[in-house]
Order: sequence, then C-alpha cells, then structure tokens
Amino acid sequence: MPWPGRVRLQRVRRRAGDPRRAALPLLGELREPDQREPRSLGGAVPRDERVEARPEGVRAAHVRGRGPVRAVPGRGDPRRPGPLLRASAALRPRQVTGGGHGTGHGHGGAAGLPDLGLGLGLRTPHLAYVLAEWPEVDWFEIISENFMDSGGYPRHALDRIAERYPVVMHGVSLSIGGSDPLDPDYLARLRALADALPAAWVSDHVCWTGVAGMNTHELLPIPFTEESLRHVARRVEVVQDALRRPLVLENPSTYASFTHSTMTEAEFLGRLCEESGCLLLLDVNNVAVSAFNHGFDPGEYLRALPHDRIAQIHIAGHADHGTHKIDTHDRPVSEAVWDLYAQAIALAGPTATLLEWDDALPAFPDLLAELAKARPYLEAEDGVTAAAHG
Ligand SMILES: [Fe+2]
Repeated sequence: MPWPGRVRLQRVRRRAGDPRRAALPLLGELREPDQREPRSLGGAVPRDERVEARPEGVRAAHVRGRGPVRAVPGRGDPRRPGPLLRASAALRPRQVTGGGHGTGHGHGGAAGLPDLGLGLGLRTPHLAYVLAEWPEVDWFEIISENFMDSGGYPRHALDRIAERYPVVMHGVSLSIGGSDPLDPDYLARLRALADALPAAWVSDHVCWTGVAGMNTHELLPIPFTEESLRHVARRVEVVQDALRRPLVLENPSTYASFTHSTMTEAEFLGRLCEESGCLLLLDVNNVAVSAFNHGFDPGEYLRALPHDRIAQIHIAGHADHGTHKIDTHDRPVSEAVWDLYAQAIALAGPTATLLEWDDALPAFPDLLAELAKARPYLEAEDGVTAAAHG
C-alpha cells in the first residue's frame, strides 16, 4: 500500500507546480517548539568542502583505545584527557559476542556489532595527515556519499586507511522517512562501498531529505505516528535486505515537530527497532539540541530508548542562541552534552563513540584531544560495571 503522504503529494504537486514548496504541509501541520522563537532549519549535513583548516607539522596527539580497563572511581574532572597511549589495532567485540574488553558490562551488544572504541569523522582536509602520520585513533567514520561515486585520490586514500583502521559508513541521503521510492541504484552503490572497505556498519538518519527526486541537503523531521512508523519500518527492511546488513539509524537534531504525532521520538525509535530490527546511532548532541528546542527532558528521552539496540554514539558541538540551539558541528562538545554522554553510557554500557566536527575544522591533533575527553567516562563506566559484576 502506498504511503498516503505520497498520494497527497502527487495530487498537490500537479496543482502547486513546485514540489519543494508543497512538501512540508503535506506531511502534516508543523508545530513550533514550545515557547520559543521560530527558526530556520539548521544545517546538520556535513559539508567537507567548506572546511579550510589544514593541520600542518604537528605530531599526533594520541587517543588510547580502551583496552583492559581499571576502575578509577572518584577521579577529578572526567573531561581531562588521560594518558595518551596506543590505539587498539583490532576490533574488540562486545561482551555479548563472547570476546570483549573484560569489563563485564551487561550491555546487550546491539546485535553483536563490535565496540570499536573512540573514533573520528574522517574529513577530506585530514586525509593527507592521516596517511602521513597514521594517528592513533581507534576507528573512522566516513560520510558515505563523499566516497560512493568518487574515485581518484579520496578513494585511494580511503582504501589505504581502511586497511589500517575499522571504518564505519554514515549516510545523509537515504531519506528513510521520505515518500519518494527508495533508490535501488543508491542502495547498490552503498552496498558496493560497504563490501569493498569493508564497513563495520552502515548508518543514516531517521528523517527525510527531499521529495520528487530533489535533495534538500537537510535532515528533515518526520511525524511520529503509527502510519509513519509502518512506512519507515517497511523501508528499513528493504534497505537491510539490499545492504545485507542491519541498518543503524540516528536521531537527528530537529527544529520543528508535528502536531499530529502520537508518540515521542524515543518511543518511535524503540518501536522502529522492534518492528524492523534496525539498530540505533544515539547522537547525544542532537538529543541536547532537540530537547532544548522542543522543551523535553533529555534524561527522560535517554531512559526511554532501547539501550540494547544502541550500536554507536555521536558527540559533537552545537551553537546556543539563547532561544534555540543549532547543530553546527563547529566547536567543542558542551558540558551539557558530556553530561548526557555520561548518562547514555551508564544506560547503554560503553559504546563505540564518534566525535563529529564538520565546520571550522581544527587540526587533527586537536580533534584527537577533544575525542580523548570521552575516555575517562568510558573508563569510569567500565569500572562501575566491572565492580558490579566482580
Ligand atoms: Fe550525529
């Protein structure tokens, strides 16, 4: 059965002429975030090409892989980078898979995907640095679309990097919530890249990105209703069949919501995991941004998620404009987001964690230093759970 949204869209498109203008009202009435000013949709899509900073002549700082962990209860500021040592060379499966880092955490294991440790988004200006320095970071995440169709130097660099580091693919154009049919050619190219690297997993966002074949390059919100749940779950199944692997879906940052939603975003994500078998990429920065913009409790949101389905966590920086927050990925992680990160790993267990940074890109060693702030949180959580199981 076609999604009713598509039917309505086709009808209005004939009348309105410009499908981009017609798209939003067709999805339902948008609700402004509670008691806050209207705002434009924020740019959450990474834009590698806009980044101009280049690291030069700086030795790598080192982010240590978690490895065997000793509990360090009662330490000082957990954001202070710890000793900088080696990264793990191999994947460390979660405990549920039978291997693991010996922390004894009871995390369900997100369907057996490995806990990769601490990773960075691989951005084009850093390719040469990575190839020259082989910095000590556990893993990299790429923007899938930046490499799916490109050959030449970027793909050559990625292939060499994938020989030395685990690589995860993160897409921005799947449009799993959209009303256009899924693009089989896009899925085939996605799978070809995932197989070639090979990618540890493939992720995208719970959103829609365009209509009538046009890409807005924005991660747009969907209504949280039974109808859209069935629609998205069906499409997730198609994608997973095409990719021959579970799809990992991220909570986007949002700036508007739908008055006819019948469930919360966290509830929707839980139901989606149940019905489609997908996994979650929990972006705690997006939780902070959306919670502020819409006026919900971020802690309650985290507690409502299915923690055993969380395969990966994103951390990033955002801009606080007082009346609203925008997901900018152009600055350090805020205190509030670190607090949410601590809550998330307390609930989900130590989980593969990735720092996203897209605009005003710092030198690579500075990114590593920012990423290293996550390590004490993971160690502390490992220690807590080891003690609990010891
Ligand atoms: Fe993210």
